[in-house]
Amino acid sequence: MNILILGSGGREHSLAWATLQNPKCDKLIVAPGNAGIAAIADCASLDIMDGAAVVAFSEANSIDFVIVGPEAPLAAGVSDDLRAAGFAVFGPSAAAAALEASKAFTKEICDACNAPTAAYGHFTDAAEAKAYVTAQGAPIVIKADGLAAGKGVIIAMTETEALDAVDTMFDGTFGAAGAEVVIEEFMEGEEASFFVLCDGVNVLPIGTAQDHKRAYDGDKGPNTGGMGAYSPAPVLTDAIAQKALDQIVKPCVAEMARRGMPYQGVLYAGLMIKDGQPRLVEYNVRFGDPECQVLMMRLGAQAFDLMHGAADGRLSEMQANWAEDHAVTVVMAAKGYPGDYAKGSVIKGLDALPEDAMNMVFHAGTTLLEGAVTASGGRVLNVTARGDDLAEAQARAYAMVDAIDWSEGFCRRDIGWRALGSG
Ligand code: AMP
Ligand code: GLY
Repeated sequence: MNILILGSGGREHSLAWATLQNPKCDKLIVAPGNAGIAAIADCASLDIMDGAAVVAFSEANSIDFVIVGPEAPLAAGVSDDLRAAGFAVFGPSAAAAALEASKAFTKEICDACNAPTAAYGHFTDAAEAKAYVTAQGAPIVIKADGLAAGKGVIIAMTETEALDAVDTMFDGTFGAAGAEVVIEEFMEGEEASFFVLCDGVNVLPIGTAQDHKRAYDGDKGPNTGGMGAYSPAPVLTDAIAQKALDQIVKPCVAEMARRGMPYQGVLYAGLMIKDGQPRLVEYNVRFGDPECQVLMMRLGAQAFDLMHGAADGRLSEMQANWAEDHAVTVVMAAKGYPGDYAKGSVIKGLDALPEDAMNMVFHAGTTLLEGAVTASGGRVLNVTARGDDLAEAQARAYAMVDAIDWSEGFCRRDIGWRALGSG
């Protein structure tokens, strides 16, 4: 099969790495890709937000199957354009991608099927939003309705902060994403991510993970896209995962189908767990980045069969057999990230590192310049390892980090602390 993956992050490098191990893959193109992906597959420059361009490229390259990595092209309807042109695609329609693109939509779906989530109000008017805040009190969570690159959520610990947050949302800081606001009950507990493949009707869990959103050790500093992850997430026990499936994911997927917008692709449920009960924080309509990297390490070549089965409506006959071990990924970012950072520094020492089923450096913001791997983004490398337990996986990942010569980069030294009970 000729396969096209859309995206350029560590997530897409890990998807490419797993796909290439599958004998069904004859040819792999990643658009636009990065320096790490270019070492294992063809990279093509293509505007992945332009559905017509993606269709024309797929036709010209005899593509059989397209995997859409990030949420933006999904929300823009690129998978719809591909399907309309007859291509098999892994990734939801624009209508179903509203599960990530609109928080109010997700809350409404949860209401319709009684899925446990935070109590909320939905507002298009600042005065009404403020009245709700005053009635509910703090802590309280203020969210821009639309896609805001992970920045549209303000957790207000006091009522004054909450009222200011409402003003910030409605004054245009978040653009169109903030024209509608969801205000939610603050949920306490431990967060974990639950990943499920869906074929429109059937759902198949493919693993659990925990991300580290803050920039610095001890969960300090500003929020980022994610500074590291591990899988499995021990807080998501089998019993809690079953509850999440029965009470949250399956009812929501059934509700989507009932509304004529069947969900096909990976559904990433962000859960808050307290006293053995999961509640939904949010859905994402794509793999997490960097969570995907640890999931792919544990799934390997079958990940491609599972994604293809989801696109083909065959999940009811499939099983996910992930490795019963642990995987850790440590993100190396450019100094300054998530604020301003420099581009163009050269990263050395990568060639000497092992690249096998147990150890992989997945690239994110890298470019090959005159033969040198050069940093070209905020999050730059995902140093990933497996081990019999989390401590072993963590030690392996940091041994690789220490062998990388990149003084302009930084990473957290405590990825995994929650599950290891340290920190
Ligand atoms: P979201 O974009 O909805 O995932 O929110 C980003 C982060 O804000 C989540 O990963 C949580 O850490 C936090 N968060 C969001 N909603 C809530 C809530 N209702 N209660 C507590 N924390 C929340
Ligand atoms: N790592 C968080 C996300 O991909 O949304």
